[in-house]
Amino acid sequence: MQKKSFNLRIPGPTTLYPEVRKIMGSQAFNHRGQEFGALITETSTKLQKIFHTKNDVLIITGSGTSAMEAAVINTLSEGDKIVVISIGTFGDRFSQIAHIFGANVIDLKFPYGVPADPIEVKQALKKNKGVKAVLVTHNETSTGVLNDLEQISKIVKQNSDALLIVDGVSSVAAIALPTDKWNCDVVISASQKGFGTPPGIAMVSMSDLAWKYYEKSKLPKYYLDLGRARKSLFNKQTPWTPATHQIAGLNKGLDLLLSETLPAVIKRHQRAAEKVRTAVNKLGLELLAPESHASPVLTAVKTKHADEIVKEMRKKGVEIAGGYGPLKGKIFRIGHLGFFTDEEIDETIKELKGVISKI
Ligand SMILES: Cc1ncc(COP(=O)(O)O)c(C=O)c1O
Repeated sequence: MQKKSFNLRIPGPTTLYPEVRKIMGSQAFNHRGQEFGALITETSTKLQKIFHTKNDVLIITGSGTSAMEAAVINTLSEGDKIVVISIGTFGDRFSQIAHIFGANVIDLKFPYGVPADPIEVKQALKKNKGVKAVLVTHNETSTGVLNDLEQISKIVKQNSDALLIVDGVSSVAAIALPTDKWNCDVVISASQKGFGTPPGIAMVSMSDLAWKYYEKSKLPKYYLDLGRARKSLFNKQTPWTPATHQIAGLNKGLDLLLSETLPAVIKRHQRAAEKVRTAVNKLGLELLAPESHASPVLTAVKTKHADEIVKEMRKKGVEIAGGYGPLKGKIFRIGHLGFFTDEEIDETIKELKGVISKI
């Protein structure tokens, strides 16, 4: 495997597959031509395998937040009662988007560092009749906590007719998320996380129920109108000029993921996470997430020396992430997401030991 000059251990953007870098350097091509038609169709079909869905997976030029916004504006109308579950910064972002577009938001906020309690979700749905949608982050990248999505989905579907909208930005392609089996109506993701490809592409899977909501949705939409994206995909196009090379890169990344096989990819992430958590424990440091809900794709570590550790690790050639939002300066985060090797994880642990011994 090609040696990388820098060990990028942040939870996205993640290291690019060498094959992806190569294909993205190719000559420009016609986005209304046959070549692109084949590319968008292939890419969307491969995404269906990764998302475990029979739904069309729509490809948007934009970052993960564009897909969060698309999920809201394509399913809801002003005043719709919705529950937004938040366990960190990205859950808070979903709530902010819904507020800005005028939804009647019931915020179900949990302290940073813990998962959502499914019983509280059930209580919120029992107390508030007529909830149109429940929005939830699968893997909260700001805290390294994994929500029990399967359980949350069961509760939402047993206790309401609500649409389940899932932020899978840092989980799809790295953590099990069987979209159809778990009744997830809308699942979004982004290219710079589990795919080993650069930022710039967002993906949205919409169930039949989600499309029924789309038909009734009155929120304004233009660039992110998923109905237009679906119609265009049928014609092997996108409504607007797409980021052609990002899509070509994503298509290659999907080939590599599918050839490794999704179960093997998921196991690789779990193994890396366990290795990192064991090392952190041995160093006497405290993990932010409870072991039962620790993220397989990143590990958040509590320490008042977080910023210094990030700086010292960088000097050693290992780029880790600091805290985000209210956790700034209080945690550091090690990413083990997307394309990485055992050697890179081992190097991270070795350098962390050295840095900690001097602090
Ligand atoms: C869980 C989650 N949701 C949403 C986002 C936002 O995605 P983007 O930064 O691509 O807009 C991120 C980005 O890190 C994320 O990790």
